[in-house]
Amino acid sequence: MKIRKLTLAALTTATLSVTLYVQAADGPHDDAIEARQALMKLQNYNVGLLFAMAKEKIPYDPDVAAEAANNLDALVNLGQSQLWPAGSDSATEGNATNRALPAIWETYPKIVEKSEALTSAVAALVPVAGNGLEAMQDAVGDVGGTCKSCHDDFREER
Ligand code: HEC
Repeated sequence: MKIRKLTLAALTTATLSVTLYVQAADGPHDDAIEARQALMKLQNYNVGLLFAMAKEKIPYDPDVAAEAANNLDALVNLGQSQLWPAGSDSATEGNATNRALPAIWETYPKIVEKSEALTSAVAALVPVAGNGLEAMQDAVGDVGGTCKSCHDDFREER
């Protein structure tokens, strides 16, 4: 009787771990997809602070502006070679929900130009972000334009 109970308990635990494992590893590219989305979110948060100041929704603070610009600079210079594996697009079955259009891979390396445009715009923002609202406004507008330009071509619309 005791042994039977033990067996049942062991089986239940085993079933549970298998279920958890399967949930954690749905598609082969899900970790990369989640990581690149997290990178985009961090970019979005930092550029969002600058946009809020640019639109005078929050007060312009040169230190916060400089920090956000430096954070953006670090983010756009991270290596991304492992974040966009072939087959991790929004049209392939079995991937975590994502909006990366197959055009990214079909027209490669076109997307690299878009990525370099962002890196350059951020490099121009860094030295002026803390130099007053007007200088920052122009530079952050250019950064936003490069985000949009890549999204227009390579991100699926909602
Ligand atoms: C070189 C192309 C490119 C550039 C430049 C780019 N993005 Fe993206 N972004 C994408 C793609 C592709 C996706 C969809 C990724 C996915 O769903 O896996 C995306 C997704 C996002 C998302 C949604 C993330 C999520 O949680 O699903 C946000 C927010 C975002 N981008 C913000 C930005 C901001 C802000 C910038 C500029 C500072 C920027 N992006 C620049 C290509 C780009």
